[in-house]
Amino acid sequence: MTIRSRILGCGSYLPSNVVTNEELSRRVDTTDEWIVARTGIRQRHIAAEGETTSDLAYNAAVRAMEHAGVVAADIDMIIVATATPDNTFPATATKVQHRLGVVGFAFDVQAVCSGFVYALTTADMYIRNGQAKTVLVIGAETFSRILDWEDRTTCVLFGDGAGAVVVQACEGTGTIADQGILASRLHSDGSKYELLYVDGGPSSTQTVGHLQMEGREVFRHAVTNLASVIREVLDDTGISEEQIDWLVPHQANQRILDGTARKFGISQERVVVTVDRHANTSAASIPLALSEAVHDGRIKRGDIVVLEAMGGGFTWGASLVRW
Ligand code: ACO
Repeated sequence: MTIRSRILGCGSYLPSNVVTNEELSRRVDTTDEWIVARTGIRQRHIAAEGETTSDLAYNAAVRAMEHAGVVAADIDMIIVATATPDNTFPATATKVQHRLGVVGFAFDVQAVCSGFVYALTTADMYIRNGQAKTVLVIGAETFSRILDWEDRTTCVLFGDGAGAVVVQACEGTGTIADQGILASRLHSDGSKYELLYVDGGPSSTQTVGHLQMEGREVFRHAVTNLASVIREVLDDTGISEEQIDWLVPHQANQRILDGTARKFGISQERVVVTVDRHANTSAASIPLALSEAVHDGRIKRGDIVVLEAMGGGFTWGASLVRW
């Protein structure tokens, strides 16, 4: 008997305030045409004053639990993937734990845009080792709080939001016919940290800082690294690119999504895209996209779904899941 981590349900939450490209063009020297042509982004959701990452995470978690049909007493572990925690400490996950009334343990994972894949992989390891049975995995971000709103090269790219999944141990046969997470791969390369980082922190400047990015370099590495990590999870399982029903990528930029899909011959109809409406919500983007495609009926039980992301660090990773 093999223990598998099955995704029971998912949910998401977006702040109600929507900021269009047109509105941004009144704040910085940019245009809707430039942003759409270079990124595919048309709008982003921005958290209200006082609305924090744990608020977004909590709301997404409640919806995921409802969809999964579980209550707080069923959950024994919570992981929140975030690079924008409410406080330097405690972990945002412990605040979510308290609000949900979950007994067990909770911690944050920090891998920026790859955070959800890192958190899901961590949950899978705990489940397969028998250390946890039902895990809430949340990606939640308020990137609007770490943007320099006068820097047109970065402020147009990001948004706020949260998505969550409930993952539960189930019995499998050890074959690719099983439902659940079939393979995961994670990577990081700290030598590239200056290409995408935040220029502040408790131990360096004692400030929160602002996001800094060498956009072109990030773009170049993203397509290469994502293609190689998707290849790894396919090779791990023996599943071919033709068998992928859905690619659910981290939503950074439409051109990165297109480039990655093209490398594997995956048609646009099989790629879940939310970047046009959500922009880049970092660790939240995969569960937001996943939740949308599950709830609107595109992703169905039995489908092969590939989740992939790349972000600051650099970090990158992929998970191959039979839904
Ligand atoms: N509006 C108008 N002009 C702009 C803007 C803007 N918002 N931002 C930059 N420009 C200008 C630049 O100043 C530059 O002008 P110049 O030629 O006079 O110097 C020109 O546009 C071209 O700038 P580039 O940076 O070369 O433009 P590029 O085509 O590379 O697009 C972009 C920039 C969209 C950031 C792209 O590099 C990219 O998507 N990179 C990936 C970054 C990313 O997605 N990061 C997210 C985090 S990592 C991740 O999630 C994978």
